[in-house]
Amino acid sequence: MAKERTLSIIKPDAVEKRYTGKIIDHLLREGFDILAMQQIHLTTAQAEGFYAVHRERGFFRELVTFMTRSPVVVLVLEAENAIQKYRDVIGATDPAQAAEGTIRKLYGTSKGENAMHGSDSPENAAVEIGYFFPGYVIAPRS
Ligand code: CMP
Repeated sequence: MAKERTLSIIKPDAVEKRYTGKIIDHLLREGFDILAMQQIHLTTAQAEGFYAVHRERGFFRELVTFMTRSPVVVLVLEAENAIQKYRDVIGATDPAQAAEGTIRKLYGTSKGENAMHGSDSPENAAVEIGYFFPGYVIAPRS
């Protein structure tokens, strides 16, 4: 199984509740390596661009308003099979449906305020990593 990279966002609800440290610890204990990380307060244009694929969805405006409410923490994570592994670790989109012990079950409150974002495919991960870390060269790990 090859190493993969995925983009992770700790969303405003979780940052506001000061869960950042607990969530990063959870990710490290699951075996993810952190290749890059930044805390930023997204502009409306940045959030709209990031979620452009959801533009026509009924929840789009609510999603953009939420994601720009306060800072987020954006991380590039690496692990074997990182895309699927990360999705397993964060759990289902709706925290009420998420498995026990997953990050969304532990720290999310609703489908919108669900603590974490994760890339859903290697192709989208590459696009999403480039969105937040444009031109960023992540040095090969020795
Ligand atoms: P995320 O992984 O960030 O990708 C798109 C987001 O849209 C998703 O997590 C949810 O937080 C959000 N979302 C999906 N469905 C709804 C909904 N019905 N109402 C509000 N937000 C939603």
